[in-house]
Amino acid sequence: MRTQVGIVGAGPAGLTLAVLLRRRGIESVVLEARSREYVEHRIRAGVIEQGIADLLVGAAVGQRMQREGIVHHGISLQFEGGRHRIPLTELSGGKSIVIYGQTEVVKDLIRVRIDDDGPLLFEVDDVQLRDVESERPRLTYRHEGGSHELECDVIAGCDGFHGVCRPSIPEGVLSSFSREYPYGWLGILAAVAPSSDELVYAHHERGFALLSLRSHELSRLYVQCRPDEDIDAWPDERIWEELQIRLGLPGWTLAEGPVLEKGVTGMRSFVVEPMQYGRLYLAGDAAHIVPPTGAKGLNLALHDVSVLADALAEWYRDGSTALLDAYSATCLRRVWRAEHFSWWMTSMLHTPEHADLFDLKLQLSQLRYVTTSEAAARSLAENYVGLGVV
Ligand code: FAD
Ligand code: PHB
Repeated sequence: MRTQVGIVGAGPAGLTLAVLLRRRGIESVVLEARSREYVEHRIRAGVIEQGIADLLVGAAVGQRMQREGIVHHGISLQFEGGRHRIPLTELSGGKSIVIYGQTEVVKDLIRVRIDDDGPLLFEVDDVQLRDVESERPRLTYRHEGGSHELECDVIAGCDGFHGVCRPSIPEGVLSSFSREYPYGWLGILAAVAPSSDELVYAHHERGFALLSLRSHELSRLYVQCRPDEDIDAWPDERIWEELQIRLGLPGWTLAEGPVLEKGVTGMRSFVVEPMQYGRLYLAGDAAHIVPPTGAKGLNLALHDVSVLADALAEWYRDGSTALLDAYSATCLRRVWRAEHFSWWMTSMLHTPEHADLFDLKLQLSQLRYVTTSEAAARSLAENYVGLGVV
């Protein structure tokens, strides 16, 4: 088989790339290790920057998001028993965010891909990259009991942090930069109307907590825990108890409901440079990870593939490699801004297990500053809603 772009991974990055390329008349084949059911139900991000929502609408995959997504104009930071609103839209020249689950984005993308008659293979095994340095890179894989080979012009590595694309690049080519945090998030999805109209990021001596949502009927809540926390040590009652303590305020309680899903996520920062080797282009979590506190992971992944789709379109149109050559540098500028913002939000809001009082005083000072100085709040707001290239 032959295609123009071989895409490994049907997460948000791979699927969006396939759709964007199709809109530009470029063929691709998407190879995904998991089942359709699995990728459509993997609960992850929920905050979409306005620019990224516009990208989805522009690619004609945003209709349901426009109907069902909830536009937010602010978030709150809570600390020392007080809740402080950051008016995102007012401070960012009119931008907002859309609350719409990554699961829903993925479902919409898969539906459009299938309606487009674009090849999308689930439950593919043993994907291997070959001749990536040549002009005819190939993907070999197993599917439905047979061995297959896909000849491509380029390969897009959209297979997430644990994928095969990044590790297939020879040793010594990539530089990697990373930080592990001694924190994890225990997240739940609960069948209860959100107790706040907007997200609440809470600093608390017992650890960070976040109130978020997926719809008017579904709450998404997180408590800071250890990265290797045993989920079995957290029956639902303990999770609610901890959420009530960390998010509670005099005169306000968190409404509780049945827990539909729960899981623990470790937190790390990670970047590889460059995001390209030969005819292989890495995009999304395959190239970079951010801790979730800045709500940037999904947004960065979609930004990468938007840059890549434009670059490939220019190359196919007039043979110019200018945008492709600049792909890595273009993406990395935004990636590093998001890395800094996500690290900063994480450091400001999480409580180390053995709290150092000096660090605690710095966190509280920073929280007071960001909620009282318009300049500081504006900086948070413009990063949160999504900056252009910096
Ligand atoms: P992925 O979504 O990881 O998709 C990669 C795809 O490649 C997957 O479908 C995978 O099955 C497939 N794949 C992997 N290996 C192979 C292979 N060998 N062959 C074929 N296919 C393969 N971000 C936020 O902004 N907010 C959040 O709350 C948030 N929560 C998160 C919770 C968790 C548990 C995780 C892991 C991430 C979270 N993120 C969050 C980050 C965000 O979800 C990711 O940044 C986003 O999913 C990146 O999309 P992607 O397409 O690059 O990678
Ligand atoms: C979520 O709703 O899952 C969510 C929201 C904001 C974050 C992280 C996760 O910063």
